[in-house]
Amino acid sequence: MKVAVFSTQSYDREFLQSRNENHRHELVFFEGKLTESTAPLAAGFPAVCVFVNDKLNAEVLQLLKDNGTRLIALRSAGFNNVDICCAEKLGLTVVRVPAYSPHAVAEHALALILTLNRKTNRAFNRVREGNFSLVGLLGFDLYGKTVGVIGTGKIGAIFAGIMNKLGCKVLAHDPYPNDEVRQFAEYVDLAELYRQSDIISLHCPLVPETQHLIDDEALAKMKQGVMLINTSRGRIVDTRAVINSLKKGEIGYLGLDVYEEEGDLFFQDLSDKIIQDDVFMRLLTFPNVLITSHQGFFTREALTAIADTTLNNITAFESGEGIMHKVTPEHLA
Ligand code: NAI
Repeated sequence: MKVAVFSTQSYDREFLQSRNENHRHELVFFEGKLTESTAPLAAGFPAVCVFVNDKLNAEVLQLLKDNGTRLIALRSAGFNNVDICCAEKLGLTVVRVPAYSPHAVAEHALALILTLNRKTNRAFNRVREGNFSLVGLLGFDLYGKTVGVIGTGKIGAIFAGIMNKLGCKVLAHDPYPNDEVRQFAEYVDLAELYRQSDIISLHCPLVPETQHLIDDEALAKMKQGVMLINTSRGRIVDTRAVINSLKKGEIGYLGLDVYEEEGDLFFQDLSDKIIQDDVFMRLLTFPNVLITSHQGFFTREALTAIADTTLNNITAFESGEGIMHKVTPEHLA
């Protein structure tokens, strides 16, 4: 099948091309994001393949439909960047990669926690400059601390298990509690989770109810000095509220792998550009904030699984033998 692959980096090309040998799809790679202005590039392609910051709003979907596209294959689990109801109305099939390596993201959340806590990023620079002072590097034992996990699906469950094995007390919140997690964690309401947790990690999807879940009101319920980790989706956190809380010294540590307005920043080398996002730049001024550019998924195992599932999804659609991993409006409920 002829597939227009948007938002491609060298690693996307490498993994998709090597796994495509058995499928033999005609993959055409575009570096740019799919937007209203780049949608015409997909003319004549029955399938487009997109990633987390491609923008598939009603206008883009209509352009795709008018130009002959029938399948949208997401290379991600999250689908908040696609107007699913509009796609359904237009008769466009949307498929995704529901799970690739939940371990990759859960382990990245742990990496953020350990770096923020033990400040290995600062120690790395100090030692290389011959500064062997420990002043300012004081951390705390994770053992015995209380960790609140919001969303205990595939990633959150693994993250909760890791923290349990490190000797933490695990609290969880999810409208659909997970029986395996229940073996070692206590499900509580959000207010209780905020009240007790030393570390809070977000693993729920971005849906209307979770948009700005972490706002002024939620932050006011958290412990003084709390560590907040977001590897889920940027818009779950109200960045301005978090900045205010950091300024007042209420949040002790902030680890982000995702950011509300990451679409204009992440996955690109902007090191010689003037960044115009003042909110993001303010975040970078805090010594207790660590930001990575949406790299939670970025392991060899995950990229292999993403490429395999994406190509299998496209092959299944083309063969007409049954659509795999379809996203429908019911997923929004
Ligand atoms: P999942 O669908 O397996 O689990 C999500 C869980 O969140 C479900 O158990 C669901 O019941 C729960 N949930 C839904 N609404 C909730 C609410 N209001 N409060 C608390 N929990 C709620 O998804 P998975 O695979 O675990 O992924 C979680 C999120 O991680 C994805 O939605 C995606 O946004 C993000 N992600 C980030 C990546 C990265 O590279 N940083 C890579 C992959 C996913």
